[in-house]
Amino acid sequence: MKSRPDYVLKIGGSILTDKTSKETFSPQLDAVIQKISRNPDGIIVHGAGSFGHPHAKEHNLHKGSREGALETSTAVKKLNNEIVKRLHKKDVEAYPVHPSSSALRRPQTEMMTRQIQQMYTEGFTPVLHGDGIVTEGQGFTVISGDEILAILERKMQTGHAGFCTSEKGVLNSERKIVNEINSLEEFEGLKLTGDDVTGGMENKVQEVLEKDIKAQIFGAEALEDFLSGEKPGTTVKK
Ligand SMILES: Nc1ncnc2c1ncn2[C@@H]1O[C@H](COP(=O)(O)OP(=O)(O)OP(=O)(O)O)[C@@H](O)[C@H]1O
Ligand SMILES: [Mg+2]
Repeated sequence: MKSRPDYVLKIGGSILTDKTSKETFSPQLDAVIQKISRNPDGIIVHGAGSFGHPHAKEHNLHKGSREGALETSTAVKKLNNEIVKRLHKKDVEAYPVHPSSSALRRPQTEMMTRQIQQMYTEGFTPVLHGDGIVTEGQGFTVISGDEILAILERKMQTGHAGFCTSEKGVLNSERKIVNEINSLEEFEGLKLTGDDVTGGMENKVQEVLEKDIKAQIFGAEALEDFLSGEKPGTTVKK
């Protein structure tokens, strides 16, 4: 029985859903599930994509709100349920962990990492997701899958953390992949796809630097490489 996960992986909502169309799965969903099923010895976090960002935006949930909290969480749970179900069909003992009922901010973010770790030790593949979480004095706020990934890696120190997203890595203004990024000043923001209430690519870079971890950012074409231990795309570390 393994005590430490081989990896922590965040799969972007931009891979799993069509971010330009509310509550729509992406045609790539099954291919992603298939790849994970060949190496399920890790912790999975997924983004909300179009099962969360539009709902959160409508109610300003990212700025703190009571309204829209249940609606957003219900939507992203639909995506989570579908992912868990499809992993089970591929014989992966995936198990959902909903941050809305297992995390809080007061004001720092607290997550039940021991429960997740134990779940893994017992042979399950925990599947978490971006969500709304109860926040002292504000009702609910959004926790991005990016922040969750960084918290889990900070705690579990797998040495193999990654974000699979819609681009092949962090791109510069000429749209070339940046090999390594060590500070937020090096980041050049580009607007390439649909709505994201939690800050898109910049949020990933920021979370990694803030939590002082190391992580890869890469595209769907490199998912198998990452799962087999390689370090594709952009390396982010302080
Ligand atoms: N320098 C950059 N390089 C690459 N992408 C960038 C850059 N600047 C901004 N982006 C945007 O960041 C997006 C990727 O982040 P986004 O949060 O939308 O995806 P995700 O994390 O996969 O989805 P979700 O938040 O739903 O999980 C890209 O599609 C692009 O629009
Ligand atoms: Mg995002």
